Amino acid sequence: MTQPLFIGLDTGAPGGDIGVARIGPHTLYQADAYTLRPKLGFFDAEVMDPPYAFNNSGGGGFRKARGASDQIVNEALDQGFDMTIINPLRAGSLVVFCHNDQLPDLLAYLKPRYHRFCLLHWIKPNPSPMRNKHYLADTEPFVHAWNPGHHPVGDHHDMHRWITAGTMAAKVHGHPTVKPLAVMDKILRNVAGRTVIDPFMGTGSTGVAAIRQGKVFTGIEHNPTHFATACARIADAWEQQQA
Ligand SMILES: C[S@@+](CC[C@H](N)C(=O)[O-])C[C@H]1O[C@@H](n2cnc3c(N)ncnc32)[C@H](O)[C@@H]1O
Repeated sequence: MTQPLFIGLDTGAPGGDIGVARIGPHTLYQADAYTLRPKLGFFDAEVMDPPYAFNNSGGGGFRKARGASDQIVNEALDQGFDMTIINPLRAGSLVVFCHNDQLPDLLAYLKPRYHRFCLLHWIKPNPSPMRNKHYLADTEPFVHAWNPGHHPVGDHHDMHRWITAGTMAAKVHGHPTVKPLAVMDKILRNVAGRTVIDPFMGTGSTGVAAIRQGKVFTGIEHNPTHFATACARIADAWEQQQA
């Protein structure tokens, strides 16, 4: 496995003394996204899978079958995110995953900021069991928004056909909400431009797909364990692309 070219404290990093891994042309930061992201400037595309806002407490018998629920709560991945991190002056297009309950506020936030947006879904073949009726556990929404000059590439309308992940384990790479690479590959094929940033990188799925599409990736993740996983996965993807 390829090792990151540099990993450690980078006193010259835009956020001060933070962990940085440089893997070929790709840069991963172990840092707080809200502090660092504004300092990193403009990217062609911002692809993010931020913490969802949803009620993940309780669940009774269903909870036992939802293997990742406790970890989601323990890592505060049910607490939502501050949408002001989305700034059209810093990215020509945006892909953002969200929970059903976040859609009204998210779309209202995006509408005046982006020229166009498309609401999309991907299909989960092995959804978590749910009791509440307003949430469809087997589909997950995401929004692709763009400004002029950053129009999606290729066919958008075939998203539903493409994005049916083969497998979606409750936990892979020690993280409770890893996105399947089939989903991320399709999304990164549709994203315009060369530079991509994911401020809530997790285990680096956006980065792996971005590298497979020949893009230059920047990621931010604050959890040291997930950051280390992302470094290893992205170093692997970079090595495979070089082969
Ligand atoms: C939904 S997960 C992303 C999972 C990712 N798509 C993957 O496939 O591995 C969101 C990630 O954002 C990270 N995160 C949450 N708040 C953050 C913050 N303020 N700064 C940096 N990372 C943050 C969490 O640790 C978590 O790994």
